[in-house]
Amino acid sequence: MMNLCINIDHIATLRNARGGTEPDPVEAARICELAGADGIVVHLREDRRHIKDHDVWKLRETITTKLDLEMGASDEIVSIALQIVPNLVTLVPEKRQELTTEGGLDVIAHKEKLKRVIELFHSKNIPVSLFIDPVKAQIEAARAIGSDMIELHTGEYAEAKDAHELQRLLNEISVAAQLGKQLGLAVNAGHGLNYVNVQAVAAIPQIDEMSIGHSIISRAAFIGLEQAVREMLALVK
Ligand code: PXP
Repeated sequence: MMNLCINIDHIATLRNARGGTEPDPVEAARICELAGADGIVVHLREDRRHIKDHDVWKLRETITTKLDLEMGASDEIVSIALQIVPNLVTLVPEKRQELTTEGGLDVIAHKEKLKRVIELFHSKNIPVSLFIDPVKAQIEAARAIGSDMIELHTGEYAEAKDAHELQRLLNEISVAAQLGKQLGLAVNAGHGLNYVNVQAVAAIPQIDEMSIGHSIISRAAFIGLEQAVREMLALVK
């Protein structure tokens, strides 16, 4: 059975636009769990542009499914994660100027550093997932340095220009998922997945879990807008 974990970073983006406390990521996580989500994902970025440290601490206390902490492998964030003890750590590359995570980790180039970080998390019994492109050498490197899971980057697939390219990129993800499984890794997939493109990826039997954020938060705004207006009208009329 496919697991679906919800990335709630953009609830915090909306909250931070006014600098107050609403909407609260803790409440968002509670609603996602009530709706049946298998886990909650947040990315504690170095610039803290959306999720803040106190959010992760509160989520650690309140989440009843699992907390997947997405993060760059910087010393500062690793040290915070080791104190928080999430149920899963997903390591991603992080650039300050990017709008969102732009590509998979280069596990081959950063093998030694990533291996050390994975060992640190394992010493606290925290499993680690590496966010990588669906590329054979990267998957093999992830396995070689002791990763428990890989998250296959679906961003390129999500941005495919035509049906031919879409199929080619879907095949790449499928082949990568099969290899991951053969190597004994759990396989996650995410980035850019939405209500139109998700099903083809969800149908790949070797994928255990998906991590989806922006499309769900965007749709929630529209699904909820009518009721929100009606409630305010009832108050002002
Ligand atoms: N997985 C990873 C590693 C990500 O960095 C992100 C974006 O934060 C996601 C999944 C979710 O992507 P999206 O918001 O496009 O669904």
